[in-house]
Amino acid sequence: MAKLVINETNKVGRIEPEIYGHFSEHLGRCIYEGLYVGENSDIPNVNGMRSDVVGALKELNIPVLRWPGGCFADEYHWMDGIGDKSKRKKMINTHWGGVMEDNSFGTHEFMELCRQLGCKTYVNGNLGSGTVQEMSQWVEYMTFEGVSPMADLRKENGHEDAFQLDYFAVGNENWGCGGNMTPEYYGNLYRRYQTYLRQYNPDRKFKKIACGPNVADYHWTEGVLKTCFDHTPEHEHGFMDLISLHYYDMPLGWEPKVSATEFDDELWYKTLNRAYYMDELIRRHGAIIDQYDPEKKIGLAVDEWGTWFKVEPGTNPGFLYQQNTIRDALVAGITLNVFNKHCDRVKMACIAQMINVLQAVILTDGEKMIKTPTYHVFHMYRHHQGADLLESSLTGASEIGMDVEYGKVPDLTESVSEKDGFITITLNNLSVSEAKELDVVFAEKKDIQVVEANIVSGSDIHDHNTFEAPETVAEKEFKGYTVDGGLKVTIPAASVVEIRVK
Ligand code: AHR
Repeated sequence: MAKLVINETNKVGRIEPEIYGHFSEHLGRCIYEGLYVGENSDIPNVNGMRSDVVGALKELNIPVLRWPGGCFADEYHWMDGIGDKSKRKKMINTHWGGVMEDNSFGTHEFMELCRQLGCKTYVNGNLGSGTVQEMSQWVEYMTFEGVSPMADLRKENGHEDAFQLDYFAVGNENWGCGGNMTPEYYGNLYRRYQTYLRQYNPDRKFKKIACGPNVADYHWTEGVLKTCFDHTPEHEHGFMDLISLHYYDMPLGWEPKVSATEFDDELWYKTLNRAYYMDELIRRHGAIIDQYDPEKKIGLAVDEWGTWFKVEPGTNPGFLYQQNTIRDALVAGITLNVFNKHCDRVKMACIAQMINVLQAVILTDGEKMIKTPTYHVFHMYRHHQGADLLESSLTGASEIGMDVEYGKVPDLTESVSEKDGFITITLNNLSVSEAKELDVVFAEKKDIQVVEANIVSGSDIHDHNTFEAPETVAEKEFKGYTVDGGLKVTIPAASVVEIRVK
């Protein structure tokens, strides 16, 4: 039997709510149709934002939303997306399907969406094809309270008060779609561009995010930090608050070669193995960042993560629309447990993407909407947001999987946190076929009361929700435990479980 020892007397860090963040790009049907249908749509909406989608997202306590890209960000010129919608410039979305972008969703619409969601705002600037002046003026437009050309323009466009900007990134994937730069070149541009991103409101400062590596590109991390901290007072406040990391789970290497719904056991384990690989990536990039920032003031923002499979048959390959099964639920559960465990360094993460793209939490079809298995995992894990990570250690997990290429993976992962006197334990059983017995022991707590226990699992690992059968996978009450000083838990095969005790 496996054993989980929880030392509830030792709080080892704070799990920032932003670890449970989301990413929305002008890509496929994420923004248009998914989030925004326009004020004149027959689909019920408030100021153009779909009411059903906003309602479902609010139940997840979305902490932060990243926009407008992704690769789109480095071709986006923000001035095209403000003012009278009928006069906004149209452009080609060269990265994503070559479709026409009419710019009807711009800065004001993004801020309105975040207002409705009650979340923080994360705007990704254009470094690849934009100027320092353009980036600087965007920040002035959004945040300056007084009289200035950009603040006056914002007021003319109907928004008297400054917007609340919480995070601003200087470019996206500048090692690739954001300009094919070297780390040293990017590091120098970061130094220059960030200089002109002024903090106009000392009591409402936004955080600056530098473009970090792709997957295991440790050379990028080293090169950017070395360049940025050369001749710059170490950890000068506000110079760089976070650095990003992008990692997609593509089980057969770069190129989406795997179906989202049709896979064998070997591909199941490969995918989960690749999800668990996030742990190594954070440790190794973290060790490099430690050399420049031993006090861990610079957060790691894993602002693109998730599964990347083949698009659904018959859909536009440039729209990245994929289904979402129990396998995605496990990827989410494993990854979020990894983030919790690394909350000393990981300060933000954004799943890619929020709706209708890659590992989405919601899929839409016209006026219909479904919640995916990943949605239900985020719903269970929401209790970790803003909680204290507790010391916990697991023994008796077995190495599992048949993967000769990557090695095996533990059959059980966990993380434990406490907030307002409630302890939340989240567990993943990675085995396709075997239930797992787990003994949960607390250091001092003896009078355990379970206040809530839930599970996401299926009768089959391929289970997923469709517009015809939207509730095939849902969060259900979990009864597979007994209370006995601690807890004795039977975790069903291929499941994500949450148990909350006080
Ligand atoms: O999320 C899809 C794309 O993946 C993003 O636009 C880009 O940043 C990444 O390569």
